[in-house]
Amino acid sequence: MSTKIKRAIVMGATSGIGREVVRELARQGWQVGITGRRDDVLRDVMAEEHQVTAMQRIDITHDDAPELLLQLIERIGGIDLYFHSSGIGYQNTALDTGKELATVETNALGFTRMVDAVFHYLAERPERPAGIAVISSIARTKGLGAAPAYSATKRYVSHYMECLSQLCRIRHLSHIRLHDIRPGFVRTPLIADGNGYPMQLDPQRVARSIVRGIGRGRSVITIDWRYRLLVAGWRLIPRWLWVRLPISTEKK
Ligand SMILES: NC(=O)c1ccc[n+]([C@@H]2O[C@H](COP(=O)([O-])OP(=O)(O)OC[C@H]3O[C@@H](n4cnc5c(N)ncnc54)[C@H](OP(=O)(O)O)[C@@H]3O)[C@@H](O)[C@H]2O)c1
Repeated sequence: MSTKIKRAIVMGATSGIGREVVRELARQGWQVGITGRRDDVLRDVMAEEHQVTAMQRIDITHDDAPELLLQLIERIGGIDLYFHSSGIGYQNTALDTGKELATVETNALGFTRMVDAVFHYLAERPERPAGIAVISSIARTKGLGAAPAYSATKRYVSHYMECLSQLCRIRHLSHIRLHDIRPGFVRTPLIADGNGYPMQLDPQRVARSIVRGIGRGRSVITIDWRYRLLVAGWRLIPRWLWVRLPISTEKK
């Protein structure tokens, strides 16, 4: 067995699932570089985790984000895994356009900006197998009227990963592995908005499932088994019936 230290960058390491993935990777001996927008929180995480050796404030909605990410990758000496957790979301039955556009900026445009940068970086380095793992959501399965941009951008993320998987075949980039992670509701600040969310998952357990799934080379990781059943059921519902279902947990 190789004793080489593995290196990862976690984008969105200051909170929720990203924070727990940092903890899990560190526990398993990975060297980790962390990023997000909140400098003070990044510093706290770095102080808590000895395996975190570098940090960089990055806002993925800004044009300089790819350059800053590449600098961070170089500072930790390359990567075996890029983990993209950054995302925002709202229940928005009022259809506040500002919230919808902010969601698209972060979850679709910011996501594309960063994942493309990493893809190009890895494509030029075929000597080193590496993974790109991103979080979509079970919200990708069907259009959710209570969270239009969130649901649509999560579909986008998922679809984009499928596209990149095929692109890897077209360009013979067999050293790049792509992972689309699809959790159900996870108890993090993202859903601490006062609305009711059923079947909440523990973020530490979710992080363990994520790291295990990546280690096993899974291209799609739906967490957990109850949500696997739920989305299988959702897929069977025809569109005419789906649009009539009042699926929302937003409190009025
Ligand atoms: N919680 C759930 O129920 C759930 C379910 C399915 C999927 N997901 C997805 O899982 C991912 C993580 O969500 P979470 O629940 O862990 O939420 P969270 O606790 O709110 O964490 C979101 C992370 O995204 C970062 N972020 C937000 N905007 C950013 C930007 N412009 N640039 C860089 N980083 C940014 C935040 O860091 P800063 O604020 O420091 O920038 C934070 O670290 C999201 O993509 C979310 O859609 C969550």
